Amino acid sequence: MKKSIITGMGHFVPQRVVTNDDLAKVMDTNDEWIRERTGIEERRHLGKNSETNTSDLVVKAAEMALKNAGISASDIDFIIFATLSPDYFFPGCGVLIQKKLGCDTIGALDVRNQCSGFIYALSTADAFIRSGIYRNILVIGAENHSFGLDLTTRSRSVSVIFGDGAGAVVVSASDEQGRGIITTNLHSEGEYAENLAVLFPGTQYGWADVLLDEDNPITADEIYPHMDGNFVFKHAVTRFPESVKEAFEKSGERIENLKLFIPHQANLRISQFVQRQLGLRDEQVFNNIQKYGNTTAASIPIALSEAVQQGRVQKGDLICMTAFGSGFTWGSVLMRW
Ligand SMILES: CC(C)(COP(=O)(O)OP(=O)(O)OC[C@H]1O[C@@H](n2cnc3c(N)ncnc32)[C@H](O)[C@@H]1OP(=O)(O)O)[C@@H](O)C(=O)NCCC(=O)NCCS
Repeated sequence: MKKSIITGMGHFVPQRVVTNDDLAKVMDTNDEWIRERTGIEERRHLGKNSETNTSDLVVKAAEMALKNAGISASDIDFIIFATLSPDYFFPGCGVLIQKKLGCDTIGALDVRNQCSGFIYALSTADAFIRSGIYRNILVIGAENHSFGLDLTTRSRSVSVIFGDGAGAVVVSASDEQGRGIITTNLHSEGEYAENLAVLFPGTQYGWADVLLDEDNPITADEIYPHMDGNFVFKHAVTRFPESVKEAFEKSGERIENLKLFIPHQANLRISQFVQRQLGLRDEQVFNNIQKYGNTTAASIPIALSEAVQQGRVQKGDLICMTAFGSGFTWGSVLMRW
């Protein structure tokens, strides 16, 4: 049976750097609070009036991934696109990438699993590759958060965390021994759907009716992201290690042999907590949230792309990617590079 290997990766972030001090100019916050609670020093924002859309960010990341893999857009058989900030409510972004890259009329699937979106997308690609249906799949995670963040004191605990960016990988079928995705696990707990959510637009509000009804305007709570931070934190630090341990148990691999753990960049404190619980050394964990904030579906492919650029992943290395987020959803991909 074919195995799935990652043959190319790319990432792209907007040029505009927004520091913690920049945020302190528009809301009641400060650099010390943000660094201490989240580890974030700066993030990138396209900004509310940007003409660049989520799909535009992806084009640059995808071109880098294709070049890296040594293939062209015509070699891609399928696209999987994970985002919570699509260009349109519908259709999804996958079709926009099919057009912008000039791919043939291949299938394009959108994944709506927020911070776990890339893990869900990569696991889906792996299933298509192992079943022999596709040979080269472009897997994307991208976000344009800044268009929808409330940059006022009212939403400060949410808005300081998130940043914009895009990452892409080419997943290809391979017969090479000792390489490829070994195991994946995916989980969800919809009971907590509203603990980290954007509630509007959604059918429960009667979308168009509410927008048109001047007497019953939608509220800020409905249109901006809502997050029960403490609650999310507690679940994240339980689910992350659980999912990693599940991957190792299923694979028969030993965690001591893990070369690099690439957690979804949710919050540096969460990553450090998980690192301690798993007994990992500093050099076994990749963190870049300091520079980009939490880029949701984009965080793991951006981190992976940078880790490879920095030479921290070599052929045959055991790497584990794990995410947790809104839904709640969580999961892992364990692979030999
Ligand atoms: C959001 C998060 C950083 C908040 O940290 P916390 O330690 O839980 O802080 P709290 O929400 O309890 O707030 C503590 C105080 O800081 C204040 N505060 C919140 N945001 C602030 C900000 N940006 N700047 C300054 N003060 C802030 C609160 O108002 C509160 O003040 P009070 O004590 O006077 O009421 C933390 O809960 C977290 O990281 N949660 C997980 C979030 C996450 O990872 N989400 C993505 C999942 S994929």
